Amino acid sequence: MSPESLERLRSTIRDVPDFPQPGILFKDITPVLADPELLNEAIEGMTEAFAGQKVDKVVGIDARGFIFGALIAQRLGAGFIPVRKKGKLPWQTRGVDYSLEYGKNSVEMHVDALAPREKVVLADDLLATGGTAGAALQLIQESGADLLGSVFFIELAFLNGREKLAETGPVHALLTF
Ligand code: PRP
Ligand code: MG
Repeated sequence: MSPESLERLRSTIRDVPDFPQPGILFKDITPVLADPELLNEAIEGMTEAFAGQKVDKVVGIDARGFIFGALIAQRLGAGFIPVRKKGKLPWQTRGVDYSLEYGKNSVEMHVDALAPREKVVLADDLLATGGTAGAALQLIQESGADLLGSVFFIELAFLNGREKLAETGPVHALLTF
């Protein structure tokens, strides 16, 4: 991915102060999603780390992780598995509670979504404190699947989420703030 492409992606993300709470500077990715060329480059950049590897499933996290995860899955020739917020999945689930940068949450995955030893990539739009991704990674681990790594469109490095995930496998981020 060229430095020019990365800079175009970076400068297209919109900073929204005090959303959803005072003191939070929200990184709005919707202008990137709306641009066909930038969306394609974002997905290309996020799949680079897994090029040439056999990936069975991409796990994406409710809600913004669905957008990136599904597109990455298609690019890698993999299936897509949703990790959803509590109470949304219809079949039998396993769940994990976690703390968010603002508030608390709980995510779930279908018990039969991943088979042991399947090769899995975790995808989300943003790595902040790492609470959300950490919970999803715990669900992946409990399934017995093999994690190839995690990939994020944006990493907020000052929140040190990467440290929380380091033990689970490689952590990739296209843009770091
Ligand atoms: C946001 C973001 C990541 C998570 C990162 O999700 O999309 O999933 O927070 O924060 P963390 O690293 O501190 O856990 P959120 O649930 O707020 O919103 P969404 O439903 O729009 O994805
Ligand atoms: Mg999210």
